[in-house]
Amino acid sequence: MSHQTVIVLDFGGQYNQLIARRVRECGVYCEVKPYTTPLEQLKAMAPIGFIFTGGPNSVYEEKAPHVDPAIFELGVPVLGICYGCQLMAHTLGGQVTAAQEDTAREYGKTETYYDTTCKLFKGLPEQGISWMSHGDYMAKVPEGFALTAHTDACPNVAIADEKRGFYGVQYHPEVNHTQHGVDMIRNFLYEVCGATGDWTMEDYKNTAIRDIREKVGDGKVLLALSGGVDSSVAAALLAEAVGKQLTCVFVDHGLMRKNEGDEVEAAFARWDINFVRVDAETRFLLKLAGEAEPERKRKIIGEEFIRVFEEEAKKIGRVDYLVQGTIYPDVIESGAGDAAVIKSHHNVGGLPDYVDFKEIIEPLRLLFKDEVRQLGRELGLPEYLVMRQPFPGPGLAIRVIGDLTKEKLDTLRDADAIYREEIAKAGLDRSINQYFAVLTNTRSVGVMGDGRTYDYTLALRAVTTSDFMTADWARIPYDVLDRISTRIVNEVKGINRIVYDITSKPPATIEWE
Ligand code: XMP
Repeated sequence: MSHQTVIVLDFGGQYNQLIARRVRECGVYCEVKPYTTPLEQLKAMAPIGFIFTGGPNSVYEEKAPHVDPAIFELGVPVLGICYGCQLMAHTLGGQVTAAQEDTAREYGKTETYYDTTCKLFKGLPEQGISWMSHGDYMAKVPEGFALTAHTDACPNVAIADEKRGFYGVQYHPEVNHTQHGVDMIRNFLYEVCGATGDWTMEDYKNTAIRDIREKVGDGKVLLALSGGVDSSVAAALLAEAVGKQLTCVFVDHGLMRKNEGDEVEAAFARWDINFVRVDAETRFLLKLAGEAEPERKRKIIGEEFIRVFEEEAKKIGRVDYLVQGTIYPDVIESGAGDAAVIKSHHNVGGLPDYVDFKEIIEPLRLLFKDEVRQLGRELGLPEYLVMRQPFPGPGLAIRVIGDLTKEKLDTLRDADAIYREEIAKAGLDRSINQYFAVLTNTRSVGVMGDGRTYDYTLALRAVTTSDFMTADWARIPYDVLDRISTRIVNEVKGINRIVYDITSKPPATIEWE
């Protein structure tokens, strides 16, 4: 694949992936590389521009990350953000010091004034809010640089040497709080680096299909389909590329949400592939019967999943390639810290090591999640699959608290479907990142008609989060909660009380088990 490439050089800041996503959103391909990557390797990628990220250090500290100064001799434009800006200034002969209290140290939203004759700010307003997060100050800017933006507290929040194509900003243009921040990044890419916007999903799709066909030849490909976004999009891509040579094994453990198994199967009906749906509900429920302890439930499901998959793989015989839905955030190497960590993520966790295959194909490993969704749309997957919220591998088993029965699962499925329907109707399905119902094993007394009931309490969970590591409970409007509650107690037998979970993570987790 040959695209114009921008390299995001990572100095360990917290927004580094966000910078890369912004660049991609502007239609330009980019890769995140640790700052320790040898210059020769970076040169070999023939970048049209570099973006130096922020980072937790101060450039004047002994152990602070540095770059090979020769990077500035390549004739390639550089945009330095926060630490990246200070590093550029420091390396090119400027002076960076710790800011004095109340002078040039800035955090948070700050009114900023821009020189719009600078290419970075071309066509943008002369004034706006920017998001600052820096404790250092450029006491002296390097030769050749002009000051191009300031705040009331700080005279030099942006610098530029337009002749050499070097730009630096102390604030974070990549975060939403910075007004027109993305436009500034776009200006850097198109006005300074000469980007043409050749990164589109249609192009990616066509190239990926060609590459997969070349690699696979007439070999056999196996994919474990979970119904999640990544494995579904990977499956659709492979289906388009190699058709009948692909076998998707979809283990339906009976712990899916309402109609989910059928929806997944229907989405793949248009491709002429081998689609194996293993109806394993009975064997999963048998294994889980009487088990109330959350960790044991998870373990049983994980193990049983592997057993089923193995059995199916054996039936298929020797496969040449196994597909995994690894995505870009899982393969980015971090630029700072003592050890560079590369995570390897398995979409369907814990596949057996000894499934007989020659090689792994990871067709999404260059894509961010939002790009995976875009690719899914490009391949014609329905919106409900492409926009699917995260769903845990153990499925509803960890949302029925305590021991499982088919009856309880069905009750939860019905209630959860109403919840999701009402959230979508209220237009909240995009702003809430994950929402689901939990069948508690608490029963309480109620009154319905003229009679007494003694039924289950259902909990509603909804969170907003960007990384799922921390989360806040979503402020669903009362009238929406009211509609959901009324419908569920009226329409779902066995539930007579609804509660709303108002705990954040931490201290709670998103799932209840
Ligand atoms: P917790 O409950 O740990 O969940 O706050 C964080 C996110 O991870 C999802 N989750 C899982 N996903 N297999 C998965 O693929 C699992 O076993 C699993 N457990 C939790 C959860 O839905 C949330 O998005």
